Amino acid sequence: MSRLALLAGSAHPALARAIAGALEVSPVELRSERFPDGERHVEILETVRGRDVYVVQSTAGDPDGALMEALQLADAARRDDAGRVTAVFPYFAYARQDRRAGGRECVAARLVADLVKAAGVERVVLLDPHSTALEGFFGMPCEIVSAIPLLAEALRPLVTSSTVVVSPDLGGAKLASQIAALLGVSAAHVHKERTGPTRVSARRVAGDVRDRTPLLVDDMISTGATLKAAAAALAGAGAAPPAAAAATHGLFVGDAVGILSESGIGRFVVTDSVPGRNTPLPLTTVGAAPLLAGAIARLSGN
Ligand code: R5P
Repeated sequence: MSRLALLAGSAHPALARAIAGALEVSPVELRSERFPDGERHVEILETVRGRDVYVVQSTAGDPDGALMEALQLADAARRDDAGRVTAVFPYFAYARQDRRAGGRECVAARLVADLVKAAGVERVVLLDPHSTALEGFFGMPCEIVSAIPLLAEALRPLVTSSTVVVSPDLGGAKLASQIAALLGVSAAHVHKERTGPTRVSARRVAGDVRDRTPLLVDDMISTGATLKAAAAALAGAGAAPPAAAAATHGLFVGDAVGILSESGIGRFVVTDSVPGRNTPLPLTTVGAAPLLAGAIARLSGN
C-alpha cells in the first residue's frame, strides 16, 4: 500500500490537525460544503489512487451531518480507487442505540455500521465506544483504542486513602474496575434507571462507599443527568462529594453545565474526542490525538 492519506472531516478540525501533526503528514486537500438546499457536497482535491486512506471524523454536535460527511469522504476515496479506506471515529454517535430497549425501535448502531460498510470503508478505528460489543456490528476489522490509561493518570493526583472508583451504572462497572486497578483502589457502582432521554433515577449503590471519596468514571458525559443522579445516590449512601468525574467523551449537551454545577462533583476529566465547549466547570482535557495517531501508524505500518 502506498502513502498514507488523511481525509479530515469538518466536525473537529483541531483534533484532525493534531492527529496529522503526530503522524507528520498534511491532511489531503478537499472541499466540503453545503449546497443551498442543505445537502453536503465533498470533493477530494488530489488523487488518493492506491493510497492508504484514513477518514477522520468525530460524530458529535451534529451527528447526522458528521456521519454523512464521513460516508461521502469514504465514497469519494473509493471512487478515486483508494488502496484501502479506514474510518477513524474519535467519537462514534448512535453507539448507545445498540438494542431494542422497548418496542418498535431502530437498532441505529447496527444501521450506521452497515452504512459505513456500504460507503466503502474496510476498517474502522473507534475510541472507547459506548460498548465494545459494537465491534460485532461491523463486518470488517475494528480497532478499538482506549483512553482509560490516560484518564487514570489524570485522576491519579486526586487519589487518597479514602478513594473509591465508582461507575454511575452497571454497564460501566467493568470500566470502573479497570481504572480502580490502575489506581490501586477499590471499585463500586450505582444502580441507575433511565426514565427518559434526560431523566435518570439512581438510588442504590453496590460496594463500600460510606465515608469514602468517589471518583466517578463513565464512557461519556452527555446531559450530565447520569453523573448528577450518581452523586446524589452516593451522598445518600454516606459518601463524600465525588472528587472528580472522568469520561472519554465530554459532550456536555443542553444544560449539562447547569446540571453538573449543582452535582457537587469537584472536577471533570475528559479527552478532546469531541470539540470543546467554553465551560465554567473545572475541566481537565486530555489529548486523544497521540492514541489515534498511534492506531493509524500501526495499521498503516508507518
Ligand atoms: C449510558 O449508558 C452511558 O454510559 C452514559 O452513562 C450516559 O450516556 C451519560 O448520559 P447523560 O450524561 O445524558 O446522563
